Amino acid sequence: MAENTTSQAVSVHAQWSNRTVFILAATGSAVGLGNIWKFPYIAGENGGGTFVLVYLLCIALIGIPIMMAEIMLGRRGKQSPINTMKALAKQENRNPGWVWLGWMGVFAGFLILSYYSVIAGWAMSYVFRTAGGLFLGVTADGVNSIFTDLVSDPERLLAWHTVFMVMTMTVVARGVKNGIEKAVTYLMPLLFALLIVIVLYAMTTGHFLEGLKFLFTPGEIDGKGILIAMGHAFFTLSLGMGAIMVYGSYLSSQHSIAQASILIALADTVVALLAGLAIFPIVFANGLEPGAGPGLIFQTLPIAFGHMQGGTMVGVIFFTLLVFAAWTSAISLIEPAVAYLVENKGFDRVYSAVLIGFLTWFVGLGTVFSFNIWKDHTLTIPFLFENFSFFDTLDYLTANIMLPLGGLFIAIFAAWVMHEQSTKEEMATYPALYKTWRFLVRYITPVAVIVVFLKAIGAI
Ligand code: PHE
Repeated sequence: MAENTTSQAVSVHAQWSNRTVFILAATGSAVGLGNIWKFPYIAGENGGGTFVLVYLLCIALIGIPIMMAEIMLGRRGKQSPINTMKALAKQENRNPGWVWLGWMGVFAGFLILSYYSVIAGWAMSYVFRTAGGLFLGVTADGVNSIFTDLVSDPERLLAWHTVFMVMTMTVVARGVKNGIEKAVTYLMPLLFALLIVIVLYAMTTGHFLEGLKFLFTPGEIDGKGILIAMGHAFFTLSLGMGAIMVYGSYLSSQHSIAQASILIALADTVVALLAGLAIFPIVFANGLEPGAGPGLIFQTLPIAFGHMQGGTMVGVIFFTLLVFAAWTSAISLIEPAVAYLVENKGFDRVYSAVLIGFLTWFVGLGTVFSFNIWKDHTLTIPFLFENFSFFDTLDYLTANIMLPLGGLFIAIFAAWVMHEQSTKEEMATYPALYKTWRFLVRYITPVAVIVVFLKAIGAI
């Protein structure tokens, strides 16, 4: 064990140059495939309106308080989530067993990245499809068969998955500070602008109101839908597995954690809602199924690119930016694991990144095959889900179980296990905000997570 596990203020890693860089990096982690690829398709599968409302409530009442808690723990512990939990439990004279929370997070990040990379690969291949003019004047059926062709070809999926993993390992090996900063400063606003261009196109389809109605008119939802909405609040804000914690550990000064968290959550939510507004009018205008599943954006947006003025260019830039957004998220998914190896095993960053990257790539093969040769191999877990593919299972277990569970324990640790004085030292910039945070994270957040879990399995 390295000696630095208990000396809290010393970090073996580089620090962010200032608060803005931290906010950018955390936003880069939060905004990704979750917002643009996942949010629309799960909103579609779960009936829209009420799902969106539950998701927004979860962001406000669960997500933001837990984000504050994670940043606070990271900044105080100054190490990878595993060593941060170990150091903080020791500092606070609490049970050393809390370290497993760090381990669970590292494991969740690893599993998420394994499928995240495969989906990012889809986005990469769409850059080239769009550039080649494949979607010019295309019909909904045409777009659909282009998508089916891609996912039924394991070799192509594997190739793109490999390219994306290599890209991710490269940045992580060089240290997250270099690279992320620029990517987020310039590319994130551009992605935002392009989403607005697509929303403007969606307004011309004649079905914009129908899209709006679908997204914002409450309807039916069941316990499982509520769990998926809550799980997504964790996923989209990168919470519950230590990504934001490890970024918080590279934050040196005493800036307001609350302000940063609110900004990050806001930016993230706006991007997701814009993606929804872009996609659903196209879905309805073309008689598509809102619940079409993980292919939804790939089966809708190309129609827009095939028909709007300058659509090929807009499409190429859009998918390129989506790849960048996925990249800055992917980096944060393995940074906790890599940081741990650097701290405890004395490995250098390059070796650690390659090692973890290779393992992740290998597990990702399961997701690659689950869309084609393993399509019919499914799993059923009583009370949770039926006939899920490898990809569905991983996605469900990580986003809806592991992240909320991690978040729940982070809330309990920050609000009940740590001494009040310690959390005050980190977060007392605005006393009123601190009080609100403490109330939420002590009572509302944990109870809400537990109630949603119980409701999903039909216990209440
Ligand atoms: N928040 C990212 C997204 O929405 C995914 C992610 C989850 C990243 C967990 C880091 C940790 O795409």
